[in-house]
Amino acid sequence: MKVLFVSSEAYPLVKTGGLADVAGALPAALKRMGEDLRLMLPAYPEALDKAEKKGRAIRLGDPLGTGETRLIPGQMPDSGLKIWLVDNPELFARDGGLYLGPDGHDWPDNHLRFALLARAAAMVCVGGNMMGWKPDVVHANDWQTGLVPAYLDQWGGSKVPSVFTIHNIHYQGLFDPDVIPGIGLRHEHFSMHGVEFHGSVSYLKSGLFYSSRITTVSPTYAREIRSTEQGTGFQGLLSLRDDDLTGVLNGIDCETWNPAGDPHIAKRYSAARPGGKEENRTALRREMKLAGESDAPLLGLVSRFVEQKGVDLVLDALPGILDKGCQVVLVGSGDPVLEQRVRDAAAADPGRVAAFIGYDENLAHRVQAGADALLVPSRFEPCGLTQLYALRYGTLPIVRRTGGLSDSVTDVDEGETGTGFLFDRAEPRSLEDAVGRAVALFRKPKDWRAVQKRAMARDFSWARSAEAYHTLYRELV
Ligand code: ADP
Ligand code: GLC
Repeated sequence: MKVLFVSSEAYPLVKTGGLADVAGALPAALKRMGEDLRLMLPAYPEALDKAEKKGRAIRLGDPLGTGETRLIPGQMPDSGLKIWLVDNPELFARDGGLYLGPDGHDWPDNHLRFALLARAAAMVCVGGNMMGWKPDVVHANDWQTGLVPAYLDQWGGSKVPSVFTIHNIHYQGLFDPDVIPGIGLRHEHFSMHGVEFHGSVSYLKSGLFYSSRITTVSPTYAREIRSTEQGTGFQGLLSLRDDDLTGVLNGIDCETWNPAGDPHIAKRYSAARPGGKEENRTALRREMKLAGESDAPLLGLVSRFVEQKGVDLVLDALPGILDKGCQVVLVGSGDPVLEQRVRDAAAADPGRVAAFIGYDENLAHRVQAGADALLVPSRFEPCGLTQLYALRYGTLPIVRRTGGLSDSVTDVDEGETGTGFLFDRAEPRSLEDAVGRAVALFRKPKDWRAVQKRAMARDFSWARSAEAYHTLYRELV
């Protein structure tokens, strides 16, 4: 079956978060299962640089009046997955972030940038024969690709069925209604039965309304977003589409995230030969300039610094966490206020708290390998990948009981299946108690090692989840 997978980022070409990990690994897993996958994303300069085996561009004309647009075929570096980069220098050839300009604000023309991505995908669906390849299904991800099913609807009903995956319902792609003509939609689309959401255009709403099927990235999140508390206003629409919405837990790329073969860490190790973890721990403590007592439980955090992730809970709980004898390594970037609070916390207690503010893929691997436990205190978490990486690295996750975190981590107090520590309330005290339980177990090395071994044996490879998408595509065709 031919599947066009559309995403605004994909590892290893370009990445700001978990969406890139998924878009890099899921299509590759589907390809291994025999599907004919193509991945489409914008031709950002970094993506053009890293893409391999680039071929002759296919001209798409100027679909949205933003200049000549071309599809550049190529391949992903590791998986060899076929890709199409949507090239429009006016929109994508810029220095800065994928979504944010150098001033830290959204690019002012994001509505056009991601409309063009969606338009190119829809053009391949409709006129694919011209390109020598026409998908049976198109799979769009998050608001940046939410217009794909709307364009298909506009062009005479969605003959090519679409799957729309919600990776995070909080990012809604909201724009002023006057963008409508510029993105090539008709005024009729701006209605409750269309892309209108509380007076704005929402690209997310478009995906939810027009797609043939909706998925999200964990079963628990699929339930949560049907509720008023977590539906962010979409719960009504989602309940209307109840039968079309399923939750499929993300998998992980077991080659990229493999302590037994990881080129970025000090010493490789595995569940059978766990000894090397100690060396990674020493290396990380040295790198982050943490002091003396090497038997202090070392807690890591690797995260975007946004409200969702509960980094403030860690900062508020820090005195209590340090009182329990822990050392803490915090890695991330985002909200400048949180960044400053993290810097201040490290400066106030440099021997016990270390911070790296920024984005560093290799350091993320060293933290996973070197820490004893990983903090993931999210207020909400559609799936979460860092706790899955942590399990694989024998780094016991301390997570809030929400979304995909509760679908992937079992509390040690539940007995023989426990792999980590869960807490319920998004409050520093609740997090601190979970850290307390982790420290108590850490002080019993034999028991700790038994849980580590169990965590490392959990299978979160993409194979199982890819199977669920494979079945879904078949149901649609
Ligand atoms: P989200 O997509 O909401 O950010 P996920 O847990 O699904 O959360 O994925 C986050 C991904 O981004 C992981 O691969 C994680 O290692 C990575 N990551 C987040 N922040 C950083 C950082 N500062 N440096 C390196 N990697 C990071
Ligand atoms: C989003 C979510 C995260 C999820 C990722 C990949 O960024 O915040 O929970 O793991 O997408 O699906």
